[in-house]
Amino acid sequence: MGSQAPKAPNGRYAQITGWGMYVPEKVLTNTDLARAVDTTDEWIVSRTGIKERHIVAGERETTATLAARAAQEALLVADVAPGDLDLVIVATVTPEYAFPSTASLVQDALGADKAGAFDLSAGCSGFMYALSLAADVVRAGGAEHVLVIGAETLSRIVDWTDRNTCVLFGDGAGAVVVSVCEARCGVLASVLGSDGSGGDVLILPAGGSHAPASHETVSSGGHFAKMNGREVFRFATTIIPKATEQVAQKAGWQIADLALVIPHQANTRIIESAVKRLNMPLEKFFINLDRYGNTSSASIPIALCEAIREQRIKGGDKLVLVGFGAGLTWAAVAIEWGIPMPVKPQRPERRWFGRLRFAFAGVRSIFRRVERHVYNWIMGPVGKDDWRGKLRKRTDALRERLRGK
Ligand SMILES: CC(C)(COP(=O)(O)OP(=O)(O)OC[C@H]1O[C@@H](n2cnc3c(N)ncnc32)[C@H](O)[C@@H]1OP(=O)(O)O)[C@@H](O)C(=O)NCCC(=O)NCCS
Repeated sequence: MGSQAPKAPNGRYAQITGWGMYVPEKVLTNTDLARAVDTTDEWIVSRTGIKERHIVAGERETTATLAARAAQEALLVADVAPGDLDLVIVATVTPEYAFPSTASLVQDALGADKAGAFDLSAGCSGFMYALSLAADVVRAGGAEHVLVIGAETLSRIVDWTDRNTCVLFGDGAGAVVVSVCEARCGVLASVLGSDGSGGDVLILPAGGSHAPASHETVSSGGHFAKMNGREVFRFATTIIPKATEQVAQKAGWQIADLALVIPHQANTRIIESAVKRLNMPLEKFFINLDRYGNTSSASIPIALCEAIREQRIKGGDKLVLVGFGAGLTWAAVAIEWGIPMPVKPQRPERRWFGRLRFAFAGVRSIFRRVERHVYNWIMGPVGKDDWRGKLRKRTDALRERLRGK
């Protein structure tokens, strides 16, 4: 499946107006890993292209905190207030909890009080699915501004004794703001695909409803990611060129028209194989996996941010973003870059005001939690018909009236 910007438009297109990324400070090099498992820097670099990755340190850094940092930056670049967001989507395979969604936590942290929020799970293709969906919602008139985030703490589901997987992954987050625009630009086409018969090729076997967490699942390592690397490799080298060609065709472009392809950052050899099959110069593919490893849903938005920072994207450029991952899933999006580059630097006071708003959102969140606690403590259990029950009913009715419901 996928979508295409209509030929006879309703005057609405969806473009990326803000972008941001955040990676934890702690860096783990190949040499560090070689001290823990039977591997070498030479093996990792020659087989994957990865030199180092960032990983979270301590309990205070989680998928939601990385996501919120990337999102704040994206909102500042877009100059969109959190209160103007209609939707927050977090693509992740390492959500904070099964529920509540990581997106709801991020929505609260940002103070996006008018936005709906949900998580999206589509393996490493998650961000691309979310971007495609966001563009569809904006074009259809369901939203003006959607925040799309890819965020992961893969270091929490990696078996650090398994050299087959632990060398590949890293943590981080990337975010974009997708906003309505009138000119024909932005996300013009997308291709989404899935082949569930390959579900066991890349899987986190335990912790879901199929195998809930138990002593047995933990002792057998079922809570760690398992992968058949060769199968994933074979799948990726076929699907990247195929999805890129399909989405370019849907957008009405030739492969030669593309200014830049931003592929999922999993392995340089996978990308080089795609380059050959598409008969494109390697310089037209953005690669930064040497510094981050595979950050799953976060890899493409992080790469997009760095491509912008390195001035690899100009206004009017035709781009393809293409991902693949667990599911098995794949997704590609064709974007005509609508914003003149480089973007004008924001006035410092405006940025300062934006940051103040985020700080206020944090304080408000704490206040709401305390208020909920105190309220329930004073009012007692719901449904009681004593004086506290009556007081609760009256107060609830008054609060609803004040909220205009
Ligand atoms: C994982 C991957 C790097 C392995 O590279 P490869 O060239 O296919 O290597 P192989 O699987 O053939 O393994 C070759 C040997 O290296 C060994 N090996 C695996 N990891 C190693 C490591 N970190 N260090 C040293 N040796 C390692 C294997 O045990 C194997 O040894 P054996 O031949 O004695 O059994 C590669 O298959 C890959 O990148 N796959 C895609 C993974 C991916 O992108 N996953 C995420 C998708 S979103």
